[in-house]
Amino acid sequence: MKKAAVLLMLTMAVAFAGCGSAPAEDAGQASDASDVSDIGEAEVDLDEEEDTAESTASAGDVLADGVLTVGTNAEFPPFEFVGDDGEPDGFDIALMKAIGDKLGVEVEVENMEFDSLVASIGSKIDAAIAGMTVTEERERMVDFSDSYYKAVQYVLVPKETEIASADDLAGKTIGAQLGTTGDYMIEDFEGATAKQYNKAVDAVNDLVSGRLDAVIVDKNPALVFAEKFSDEIQYMDFSFEPEDYAIALPKGNESLTAAVNGALEELKADGTFDDLVNQYIGN
Ligand code: ARG
Repeated sequence: MKKAAVLLMLTMAVAFAGCGSAPAEDAGQASDASDVSDIGEAEVDLDEEEDTAESTASAGDVLADGVLTVGTNAEFPPFEFVGDDGEPDGFDIALMKAIGDKLGVEVEVENMEFDSLVASIGSKIDAAIAGMTVTEERERMVDFSDSYYKAVQYVLVPKETEIASADDLAGKTIGAQLGTTGDYMIEDFEGATAKQYNKAVDAVNDLVSGRLDAVIVDKNPALVFAEKFSDEIQYMDFSFEPEDYAIALPKGNESLTAAVNGALEELKADGTFDDLVNQYIGN
């Protein structure tokens, strides 16, 4: 498998040479960076373990064309939303672009339905960043990066409501974005009727106009929506199970996951991550 190793190193060299304005310097820095030392290990693995060559080579394959295609669902402020220029913007988008910079690849964002993100990884998209909670069910289909944010489900209710605790959600008509953890929670409330929407904001509009008793959505978007419709609705924190957001990646591509985790670690260490939190999420 020597040949494959050489090929991978060549494609890596091309990927890094294609990055930024000062490729020589980037490549120099990159060689002491943790993400690239992970890729370096992958190269060694190729030499030593022929049968793992295919899966370890794929970080190179995914990154070799210099473009990382990342799916999102830009209906989830402040993590992702459509900016004034019509392009996806938000914390996740900025974070993913910063990861792309570290890896020396351009990040191209595909805005799609949340519910089809996981199934599209490995075909239409290389990865997904979408305030996506790590769940066992999703882990059967994709691998996740290290978690980059803690989240929890909040409940949006009208200003005037009899809902004061999670138990009061029994028998209610509850809206959520299709295929989200908030959506999956509705069945826990006895006799509740679930209404699913392609966008959380459509559920919120139905709440505002009295067609729903409650909406279950992640905390930070809930705060944004509650603020936007502050005359009509309010948010409630019923202390549901904490969730972890992570980037979804192709199953079994360990070297890509290692590279993304390495970049994430560097962004935390150099302060970029906290800057993005302050810029997009606040406290
Ligand atoms: N955290 C929830 C989940 O993973 C909701 C994510 C919705 N994200 C979005 N971009 N619409 O299911």
